[in-house]
Amino acid sequence: MARALIGVIGGSGLYEMPGLSEVEALRIDTPFGAPSDTIVWGKLQGIPVAFLARHGRGHRLIPGEVPYRANIHALRQLGVRYILSLSAVGSLREEVRPLDMLIPDQFIDMTRKRDSTFFGGGAVAHVAMADPVCPSVARCLAQAFERTQADQPIRLHRQGSYVCIEGPQFSSRAESHWYRSMGASVIGMTNMPEAKLAREAQIAYATLAMATDYDCWHPREAAVTAAVAIANLQQNAARAQQIAAEAIRLLGEEQPHSFAHSALESGLVTPLEALP
Ligand code: ADE
Repeated sequence: MARALIGVIGGSGLYEMPGLSEVEALRIDTPFGAPSDTIVWGKLQGIPVAFLARHGRGHRLIPGEVPYRANIHALRQLGVRYILSLSAVGSLREEVRPLDMLIPDQFIDMTRKRDSTFFGGGAVAHVAMADPVCPSVARCLAQAFERTQADQPIRLHRQGSYVCIEGPQFSSRAESHWYRSMGASVIGMTNMPEAKLAREAQIAYATLAMATDYDCWHPREAAVTAAVAIANLQQNAARAQQIAAEAIRLLGEEQPHSFAHSALESGLVTPLEALP
């Protein structure tokens, strides 16, 4: 089977990864069913990369329908060590303006009905999630941001908490204020349980979050609509792809060790010989 060092999960508006060579479409099966779509395997400057459209090409899956376990399992089967998650978010902070980008260092999971672990059924593990984001992958994304040219004054925010809601509806105003009071900087619908599953699969994970709107807490800005979020995302898609390409180059060169790569050494409770 093909092997890949880096997995790229593209969110809304990001359904392909330009610049890949030797491209192959991989239909991968997993014990959790099929991933969101075929995985597009290819090389970027010699580095083997696996690209997966989170919502499927043509945007067919609502956030609660994304087969997160199958997606991460499929990337793991390919040998992926690092995941770059490209995700649209709403901003919960004045200073994070629509079109700005943010690399979350924390997640708050407010999802309600998603399969969020590979464990159970006789195998017990509690992986550490205190620091859910790999700092080395986050640094590569930040360096990549600095190295790519913007035609608009887009700012990068190097930290912040991403609160993940179940969706698919946007939040009520009361909820939006509540998430702000929790200290969250951005809001999205997909990075949980993705980041948890990546950790269980011992894959280093970081997100490039692209702010598309001010959700609905802002006193002077109109409440978010899907149409506005998508229009803003489309303005940023090309830059996000450039940033991902440069981050892939940096990660391929450096191949940093990550805590995530040995998460089960301290997380697995069931003795190896007793695993089902
Ligand atoms: N994705 C983009 N904008 C969002 C918002 N305001 N809430 C949840 N997910 C989003």
